[in-house]
This record gives sequence, structure tokens and C-alpha cells, in this order.
Amino acid sequence: MIGKDIVSLEQFDKADIDKVLEVAAKMEKAVRSGENVNLLHRNIMASLFFEPSTRTRFSFEAAMERLGGSVLSTTGFTFSSISKGETLPDTIKTIERYADVIVMRHPEVGSAKIAADSAKIPFLNAGDGVGEHPTQALLDFYTIKKEKGNTHGLKIAMVGDLKNGRTIHSLVKLMTAYDGMEFCLVSPKELKIPAEYVELMKKNNVKFVETDNLDDVIAECDVFYMTRIQKERFAKEADYKKVKGCFVLDNEILKKAKKDMIIMHPLPRVDEIAVEVDADPRAKYFDQVENGLYVRMALLALVLKKA
Ligand code: CP
Repeated sequence: MIGKDIVSLEQFDKADIDKVLEVAAKMEKAVRSGENVNLLHRNIMASLFFEPSTRTRFSFEAAMERLGGSVLSTTGFTFSSISKGETLPDTIKTIERYADVIVMRHPEVGSAKIAADSAKIPFLNAGDGVGEHPTQALLDFYTIKKEKGNTHGLKIAMVGDLKNGRTIHSLVKLMTAYDGMEFCLVSPKELKIPAEYVELMKKNNVKFVETDNLDDVIAECDVFYMTRIQKERFAKEADYKKVKGCFVLDNEILKKAKKDMIIMHPLPRVDEIAVEVDADPRAKYFDQVENGLYVRMALLALVLKKA
């Protein structure tokens, strides 16, 4: 991974994923024990977030600071010369003169590849529109392994907006690298997972079912991965309203679930997980948030050849 870009989970094989998880576990141990992890002293991360973010931006920036490096950042297009007509490649070719690694979130699918191809320094995709969110998938998988141990035989429900959910897209790509997991894909028919991911699962002999009924899967799954219906991805408000609130996980529904099931969500949530669920010991979504720090520390250290 030294010097590499991270654009899509397609680039990762099982050995790469295992390596990231191994380094992330070391980062977690070091941070938790108060150890000084100064691996990226004098390194600079450029943080470009052209779409809103709380977790990804803060965890990447915190990761760089925890590693002893520093951060240059911009948010939105308004304060970037892109608003004056500069192209993305020119922006990247400029920023790489000031930084050692670039992290970018952008609203357009494919923008991460364009930026990575323009950059001579490592580039990390922090989400490109409805395309992919590879670092989220890695932290999700880190969380699943930490909570459940062996992943073989796990039944994983992915629920909500599977069409526009970039975290889902990356997670499916990641999990097809491993044998023995089964997927239950729960969405309204308008928001089904795109055909390319169905083909990918078939090609890799991954067992999966598709349904629009939560009751079909809640009792049997080991991991329940909820996602938000993303208002910002709908062209017409009327189409959003049709599917808004279609699935809500609350304590009543959870009575049907396994006692050791874990509840995940990439966050932010709107109304799809009731706040009362936060007190359930099966709720792991704020642990996911923290795991993002360790996984992003690992990724920065790995691409900058310090781990
Ligand atoms: N999970 C995630 O990408 O959250 P943010 O949009 O807050 O970064």
C-alpha cells in the first residue's frame, strides 16, 4: 500500500484488508494506552471536503494529528478556486505541492479516480457522490470483526437506501473478498442495490436475498446495518417523500432480533433508528465512529510508508 491511492475497494484483496485491520488494532491499542504515536511527524494532510461531513473529516483530521502530522483543510466549493472555474486536476496538482497526502470528498461519482490520477502523492477517497466510500467500509469491517470475531457464517442485513448508499457499495465489494457471509438486502423497490453489485455477488458465489420487508430478516441476522434514505440524492422531493421513513428500527422491532446481533449505521441518521435504541448494548454505531479514527490512522501510516 506504500505510496498508493485508495479510490475503491476493488483495489483491495483479502491480504490488504487484513493488513489494514491489523495496523488499525495496533493504533487503537496505542491511542487507548496514551502512547505517543508520532509516525507522521512533519507530514501534511490536505483535507478537501466538497460535500458535507462530520465523521469522515474529523476522524481523518484527528488521525493525522494523533500521528504527529498536521492538516490543511478546505470545505465546500465556495472557498476553493474551483468556484472560479479551476478544474479538479489543476486543484489537485496545486495542492500536492504543499502536502504529502490528499483526502477528498466530492459530490460526483468518478471524481476520486480523476483526482487520484492527477496526483503524484497518495490520494484517499473520502466519498465520491453515490459511488464509493472505501475507508468507511474498512472501519465497518473492523467493527464487525472486533464485535463478532470470525466472520464466516455471519448473516448481514443491509437496510435502507441501497441504491445511493456508497457505504453499502464499498462494503459489498469488501465482503465478497471473504467466504461464508450471507447478505439480506432490505430496501424499497425504488432503492434496490444497483445491478453491478448483484452481479458481483453472483460472480463471487455470495448468498443473498432481496426483500422490502424487515420482518423477513430481523430474527435471523447477526449484523444489522441500517442506512439513511438520502434526501439529497433525489431529483424530486415527491420521490423522497414516497420512501421516507420506510424502515424505522425501534425497541419493539428489536424484540424479534437475536440477543447478540449488532446494530450498525454509518451515520448520520435521521429517523431510521429511534434514539431509544442507543441504550441497547447491541447498538454499535458510535463505536463505529471511534473505530474510524483507528482505521484512518492505519491507512495514513500505511500509504505514507510509516507502518
Ligand atoms: N459516515 C460518514 O461518512 O459520515 P459523514 O458524512 O459525517 O462523514
